[in-house]
Amino acid sequence: MKAVAVKIGGFAFPVEPDMGFLRRCASVLKRIPEEGLKLVVVAGGGGLARRLIRAARALGAPEAICDEIGIMATRVNASLLSIALGLPSPMRIPTGLQDIGEALDKRDIVVMGGLQPGQSTDAVAVLAAELTGASLVVKATDVDGIYTADPRRHPGARKLERLSYDEALELLSKMAVKAGTYELLDPLAIRLAKRSGVAIRVVDGREPGNIYKAIKGADVGSLVGP
Ligand code: UTP
Repeated sequence: MKAVAVKIGGFAFPVEPDMGFLRRCASVLKRIPEEGLKLVVVAGGGGLARRLIRAARALGAPEAICDEIGIMATRVNASLLSIALGLPSPMRIPTGLQDIGEALDKRDIVVMGGLQPGQSTDAVAVLAAELTGASLVVKATDVDGIYTADPRRHPGARKLERLSYDEALELLSKMAVKAGTYELLDPLAIRLAKRSGVAIRVVDGREPGNIYKAIKGADVGSLVGP
């Protein structure tokens, strides 16, 4: 059976959970297996991760421990999303790639968070795609694609509808990568996608229907691919 990986960015997980949004998101995600696809959903860390990482860093934690704290937050968010999806309770959140295959043998959807320090959940989504043979990762975020600069701070920024892996890496090389501050796309996710030819489509997840459109092959958002 074919598979797809969907990353739900941190925007979906503010410190005060938005139940209405999670329900809308879940109802879109539930339609994906109806298309005959197995689905791996990866939850970002959101406001909880950012706050906890900031606190841990201020208290003197090394970056690797800040990452571990972030991973815990992503797993809390994954649990919340799996409840919204109505998955069997208690849902075990995968802690390793090997758990994904086992979970997908039993059901069509698995929800997870982070795996190990030094990366983001973007990289997890690409690893999950590699593992399941998926050719596409859909990253749902709060911008409608990849821009030449942060469109919230640079009104003149231009949207790029199609980027090669190297173009995306070049664009990101100017951005800082610290625990909790990955911007747009984790460069590691792009390098992993490049080695296996996995395409990453970045869409505006504030309208969850865009995730479904991307899976159906629509030209929404921006595509990083071969
Ligand atoms: P993310 O950076 O993936 O969440 O994980 P996010 O920022 O909410 O997602 P986007 O940017 O909106 O897409 C939160 C933090 O958890 C740690 C990192 O510190 C990361 O910044 N993390 C997550 C890991 O160390 N390893 C993982 O596999 C996942």
